[in-house]
Amino acid sequence: MKKLVLLALAAALPAMASFAQEAESPFADTVEIRHGLMLQMAADLGKLGAIAKNETPYDAATASKAAANIAAIASVISMDQFPAGSEVDAAPDSFALPAIWTNPDDFALKITGLNDAASFMVAAAGKDASSIKGVMANLGGACGSCHKAYRQPEE
Ligand code: HEC
Repeated sequence: MKKLVLLALAAALPAMASFAQEAESPFADTVEIRHGLMLQMAADLGKLGAIAKNETPYDAATASKAAANIAAIASVISMDQFPAGSEVDAAPDSFALPAIWTNPDDFALKITGLNDAASFMVAAAGKDASSIKGVMANLGGACGSCHKAYRQPEE
């Protein structure tokens, strides 16, 4: 009986160890939250991009929803999702570069840029595919310029 208990404990140990490791990072939830916000924007941007490239037919409701989602998420993004200490190599799964915390004003400007670009997309999304195409590079550029400075590329 004792042996069985010991065996069960031994089997559970690796799982417990990895749980402990996860639980140790105070930034685990925050990193997950910002990834979720980013991934949702990427999904919505993808829908708009497909319309801009005429890969999917223009549909006002779909386009407007995608643009509204991006605008809503842009309004949520702030330093709240980027607490000091949550950079790459310090927090698990983080690809955020330390430059965010040395240039917080510039990082804030990139967030403002995203909000501005998203509002142009909201206006265009209700019109037609060519209007979406017209503001697509601006919005994609808002994502890209921040990533270039503040996100470590995944290998
Ligand atoms: C203000 C800066 C900023 C803007 C603007 C921005 N991002 Fe990000 N994004 C980041 C940072 C920093 C990371 C890395 C976060 C991390 O790994 O913890 C990231 C990560 C991502 C990821 C990877 C998520 C993952 O699971 O690893 C995707 C996808 C992404 N962004 C999409 C977008 C899209 C699409 C836009 C524009 C609509 C955008 N981002 C705008 C800063 C930004």
